[in-house]
Amino acid sequence: MKIAITGAAGQISYALIPLLLERFKFPIELSLIDLEEKVGQLRGLEMEIEDFCFPQVKKVASGSDEKTLFKGADVAIFLGAKPRGPGMERGDLITTNAATFYRQGKILADVANPNVKAIVVGNPANTNALMLIRGGEYRLKNQIQALMRLDQNRAKSALNLAAKQREEVFVFGNHSPTIFVHEATSEVTEFVRKRGAEVIKARGVSSQASAAKAIVDHLEDWMSKDERRYSAALYSEKNPYGVDEDLVFSFPYSNKKGILKLPLSQQEKEMLLITEDEMKKERQIACTILFSN
Ligand code: LMR
Repeated sequence: MKIAITGAAGQISYALIPLLLERFKFPIELSLIDLEEKVGQLRGLEMEIEDFCFPQVKKVASGSDEKTLFKGADVAIFLGAKPRGPGMERGDLITTNAATFYRQGKILADVANPNVKAIVVGNPANTNALMLIRGGEYRLKNQIQALMRLDQNRAKSALNLAAKQREEVFVFGNHSPTIFVHEATSEVTEFVRKRGAEVIKARGVSSQASAAKAIVDHLEDWMSKDERRYSAALYSEKNPYGVDEDLVFSFPYSNKKGILKLPLSQQEKEMLLITEDEMKKERQIACTILFSN
């Protein structure tokens, strides 16, 4: 299985690769992509991957040539994006990141395995995923998901800490302060909404290890032969919640059945509209940036 990773010289990637190789034992080819000026660091990472000595790693390639490195990819993990710093919202990054994802969407749709599974992590993840889909002229609309598993894991952990353990926890909407946790108290939703910013405030940089763990959890569920139910941001076409059909929106999802229809309370229906509205505004900003010249 060929796994391509963008932003591969960054810190999420550094945490992700050993976790991924501990979890997935099938034959793997890694394609590490980053900017031209980071190619030296990628070479160092390649050396460390060789030194891990994981027998399932059949090949490692790295560089900045996206066409070559995405070619034939079965899985693509999009980490590469300008990260937010203290005091910023994730949506503030659209100006810098929309064009990158739009460009990469075309390349991915042109050269990757037509059945590729792509996960977008770089923020604003949902709108970046939409730009990836649009860049590829919607050819991969059902194969691109944005990472919501970090929010789901945060919600689950908050419920565990409050001794309200639940088997399944789902989050709806945007990976932003408008997200909400299904059937949870406002304290749990607030916790999830603020957690990313709290981590940035405390560490000076955004979550890396927990994001890496969430990516592996998400991929494992998505690729599982058994049915798995989890939160994922998906292309919203024909969703059963009446959400605008051209967004990448977090819904409860089954890797075998697609979007799951769960009952929403009146308050949840109102929160759904707020997070949908925010995503429509992000889409508008991204499209203005992309198509204004
Ligand atoms: C997170 O939720 O921790 C990441 O999306 C990073 C961020 O900017 O919050």
